[in-house]
Amino acid sequence: MNDLRIFETQDGSHSIFAEQFGVSYHSKYGAIQETQHVFIDAALRFKAVEKKELHVLEMGFGTGLNAYMTYLEAQKHNLHIHYTAVEAYPLTQAQWKNLNYAEQLQEDRKAFDIFHTTPWNIPIKINENFELLKLLQRFEDLDFSPQFDIIYYDTFAPDAQPELWEVELFQKMYDALLKGGVLVTYCAKGVVKRTMKSVGFEIEGLQGPPGKREMTRATKVN
Ligand SMILES: C[S@@+](CC[C@H](N)C(=O)[O-])C[C@H]1O[C@@H](n2cnc3c(N)ncnc32)[C@H](O)[C@@H]1O
Repeated sequence: MNDLRIFETQDGSHSIFAEQFGVSYHSKYGAIQETQHVFIDAALRFKAVEKKELHVLEMGFGTGLNAYMTYLEAQKHNLHIHYTAVEAYPLTQAQWKNLNYAEQLQEDRKAFDIFHTTPWNIPIKINENFELLKLLQRFEDLDFSPQFDIIYYDTFAPDAQPELWEVELFQKMYDALLKGGVLVTYCAKGVVKRTMKSVGFEIEGLQGPPGKREMTRATKVN
């Protein structure tokens, strides 16, 4: 996609607006706040209580913010993360170079850049705490056997890409999770929750990030 423009969200961190889909990559109320709340707190910290070695699947690598913040959390709490991120339309260097996440988080800029410069489709050990596999692929073409503890379901919203919120993809997500695994998403639409439920997920509505009333955590119970 080349019709992308960077903008500043309300917590000072950048996001990207995709003209083609008419949506942004994160909440306008705060990209870093959203990642912290929806993905790090409601999934990574939640599962890290029981396990220190975790397999994470991210649907939509995008800016790399979720991956980068997961890496920072893994270092802080000595977790061992195997991170698989799927993306069909990677940002160009000119786009990701301008993102301000490392500065906003007061962290190492070089580490953020590594997430973008490592090659696609090859597992790379970033350090003792973090292994990264970026798959350059369309979500629709995925097929995983059960292997993940966590799925960050971070595709564009249902209004922009309804086909990514239907039963086929949620069945694939369910099949990709280990028993007890969780899928989290910022989305809390009733129809989406019902679709997740229909493939076997147990659904929890959790408080949403700033600016949003609710988010969803779905668990593969059996
Ligand atoms: C909401 S953004 C992801 C934000 C990202 N997690 C981050 O931390 O910046 C959705 C992402 O899904 C990607 N995407 C959209 N449709 C896709 C598809 N059919 N297959 C794979 N990736 C897709 C977009 O290019 C975009 O990067």
